[in-house]
Amino acid sequence: MGQGGALQQINLKGRDFLELDDYSTEEIQYLIDLAIEIKRKHKNGEAYQPLKGKTIGLIFEKSSTRTRVSFEVGMFQLGGHALFLSKNDIQLGRGEPISDMAQVMSRYLDGIMIRTFGHDNVVELARYASVPVINGLSDLAHPCQVLADYQTLYEQKGKLKGLKLAYIGDGNNMAHSLLIGGAKLGVHVSIASPAGYEPDPSVVAASREIAKQTGSEIVITQSPQEAVKDADAIYTDVWASMGFEEEQKERELAFADFQVNEELVKLAKPDYLFLHCLPAHRGEEVSAGVIDGPNSVIFDEAENRLHAQKALMVALMG
Ligand code: CP
Ligand code: NVA
Repeated sequence: MGQGGALQQINLKGRDFLELDDYSTEEIQYLIDLAIEIKRKHKNGEAYQPLKGKTIGLIFEKSSTRTRVSFEVGMFQLGGHALFLSKNDIQLGRGEPISDMAQVMSRYLDGIMIRTFGHDNVVELARYASVPVINGLSDLAHPCQVLADYQTLYEQKGKLKGLKLAYIGDGNNMAHSLLIGGAKLGVHVSIASPAGYEPDPSVVAASREIAKQTGSEIVITQSPQEAVKDADAIYTDVWASMGFEEEQKERELAFADFQVNEELVKLAKPDYLFLHCLPAHRGEEVSAGVIDGPNSVIFDEAENRLHAQKALMVALMG
């Protein structure tokens, strides 16, 4: 199992999950292997409830379909309980400091997931909480999504090391986590973004540093054609992420040549996979023919959010 044989037991109990950068290659591979094992149990109808009596709080400052439902259902399946905490329904929305909220919630909960804007909010929550904190998306990173993405790629291709993943579009949270995760797992990652929308240079530098150890190649380009050439996987995301909606019009102009469509994907390997974190805008970042075509694995990816996050909660909170 995994790139390294049998499922090794790695102790992650009590750890936060803020960015993939904080986890070693072996730890990320372990989480993927555990997700696959938990998925197998679930498909076989085997009862697996190691989190009986445990509760996770899910704080949302932004909208969500997949993250909310997969965490709530995942925790239920593991025998525990999940609380949905919308910013507007808790005192955070009225200005209660994150540090107080973290300490209070740690007296009730066994884990906290937060989806927020500034990544510093996630870091501050983790600093003051005495229970594990999971990043359910910040403006900087979306590590839960990327865990499920690389699980999907691994299941479909039977390996990760040496694969080429092309990401076309905004150098956003998704691009960042795919870069760091890819570098850790030995996946070659090529990012094509228009000028002014490149990934954060500090994330690129960090991924290049990691890549030196794993043999992964990191390429940042303004050419979607260069990025996609001979790719095993093509990834894209919305042009205007949550919090950037007012830039939609100017982004449509800037990203006009960055659509993943039938013409572009011809440059990839014939058995390339198309991935998207969703929600998607057909006709903008991706054509309907590609996202709904035979190479698309978007719903396997979305399903794997459930299995990957169950693995995460078991490893951190079990
Ligand atoms: N991909 C993802 O995180 O989806 P949601 O915004 O619906 O949670
Ligand atoms: N980059 C997107 C991802 C949504 C899952 C956003 O932050 O809105």
